[in-house]
Amino acid sequence: MGTPRSAACAGANTASPRFPATWRYRAGCGAVFGAHAMVASDAPLASEAGVEILKQGGNAVDAAVAVGFALATVYPEAGNLGGGGYMVIHMADGRAAALDYREIAPLAATRDMYLDSTGTLTEKGIVGPLASGVPGAVAGLTAALAKYGTMTLAQVMAPAIRYAEQGFPVDTAMHNSLRGNRELIGEFAGDSLFLPNGEVPAIGSTLRQPALARTLRAIAERGRSAFYEGDIARAWTSELQAAGGIITMADLARYQPVWREPIRSTYRGYTLLTMPPSSSGGVTVTESMNILEGFSPMPPFGSTQWAHLEGSAYQRAFIDRNSKLADPAFVNVPIAQLTDKAYAATLRATIGAGSATPTASIGGTLREGMQTTHYSVVDERGNAVATTTTLNNLYGSGVYLTSAGFFLNDEMDDFASQPGKPNMFGLVQGEANAIQPGKRPLSAMSPSVVLDRNGGLLLVVGSRGGPRIITSTSEVILNVLDYGMTLAEAVSAPRVHHQALPDSLYIERGGVTAAVADSLRAMGYGVAWSRGIGLVNAVMRVRGGYEGMSDPRSSGLPVGY
Ligand code: DON
Repeated sequence: MGTPRSAACAGANTASPRFPATWRYRAGCGAVFGAHAMVASDAPLASEAGVEILKQGGNAVDAAVAVGFALATVYPEAGNLGGGGYMVIHMADGRAAALDYREIAPLAATRDMYLDSTGTLTEKGIVGPLASGVPGAVAGLTAALAKYGTMTLAQVMAPAIRYAEQGFPVDTAMHNSLRGNRELIGEFAGDSLFLPNGEVPAIGSTLRQPALARTLRAIAERGRSAFYEGDIARAWTSELQAAGGIITMADLARYQPVWREPIRSTYRGYTLLTMPPSSSGGVTVTESMNILEGFSPMPPFGSTQWAHLEGSAYQRAFIDRNSKLADPAFVNVPIAQLTDKAYAATLRATIGAGSATPTASIGGTLREGMQTTHYSVVDERGNAVATTTTLNNLYGSGVYLTSAGFFLNDEMDDFASQPGKPNMFGLVQGEANAIQPGKRPLSAMSPSVVLDRNGGLLLVVGSRGGPRIITSTSEVILNVLDYGMTLAEAVSAPRVHHQALPDSLYIERGGVTAAVADSLRAMGYGVAWSRGIGLVNAVMRVRGGYEGMSDPRSSGLPVGY
């Protein structure tokens, strides 16, 4: 096994001279070392499931699929069968792929389905039976295994089935998550399982999920068709429709994940492989980093200029993201232009040395999401998988299907439910991302792989946090490449975020000195303090093996060997 997290902390619990005294995380605390392989996820049992498969000889894709199904069992707030996600794969033999298993709008979806008779946006796109896109998770995980895996579904799903059938101990993180969301869960049928007798299960008690176990077993035996056709599909779509939902058997039958070419770019000689649309993540990460590449060297970490340049790069890339990106099956997305270095240079030229640029003077919109989970896997051969998956909100729409044992997503809220008008977060999105049947809502998920200057694997990284996925993922990459940070330091470092609108520079509380905040204000920035920006799970190649790091902002745990 890798070094346990507590031991790693005991040995390296030092403050970073680069972090201000007010910053709450240490520099070297939390990384786990494995000489052979590493899995970093938001749930310790899911990371262990991945390592179990790796130790049986599975490759990184086998392990990633095992982690995906395990998260659906032990991390129901974001792991899922009822949601979707994105996977970036880099095989040691040089093959690279991106898998889009994002949900799609049901055939019965309509552009104005979340507006009431007065044209006001309702909450139906966020909570309840109408909020869900057609789930892509099972189709995606099974497709990844079929193309790049080496094991059977039954083998890689064994840990998830065991956790669901035999149960697992409710840990503090899960207890707190259920407690924090008891109102949403209690509104729908999940309460009998997750809030027995109206109570949150005690820490250490065993949680068994027999209905989920049956569904998982059926998928393990019959593959994706067990979820998208036949008895189980009929049962859960009927249950959903009885509650007022619109997903039908026809929606399930036509759902397909899409294999795409990863976005491939360079940053100071390193190679970045990341997720193309229907996620905005890869384009926006690439565009931001292309803008920053022209500043050489980057200003000192934590300085006013650091926050100014990173914030300004994100602000500009998000303006393009919000207006130009959407599902490429429906909208012509200018990927080549937005990821072009010459185009980045024109944006860089609009960044003033000593002042903020009001977003209104350069245009832009944005929206925010709630809960997601990213995991990173590297195997002994150097194959790597970066996966981000989500139900959108914690526990998705809140709708739990007792017939099949899972929560459904509320991914429909990632569409512009009311193009051109502020949504319920006070944000505005463009026509390109309006609701259309069969369309994928625009995502910010950014699973990414970084190769070193010789083309060898360096970093596998991604995050959760809605639009903050883009900034937190790229900041960890920048911290390693520009600032030479260790992985633990790079993930623990304070983060900034700018998303064009609201026109604010978000900074994690305590993440810069008062003097830096004052000078940013003097430059014209609206400085907004943030509790946390993103939750990262990353793996980095180091001498003699791999380091895994789960964000100290969350309860994840890397496991390696
Ligand atoms: O696809 C997206 O961009 C959002 N549904 C992600 C939501 C998210 O990350 C929430 N996590 N904190």
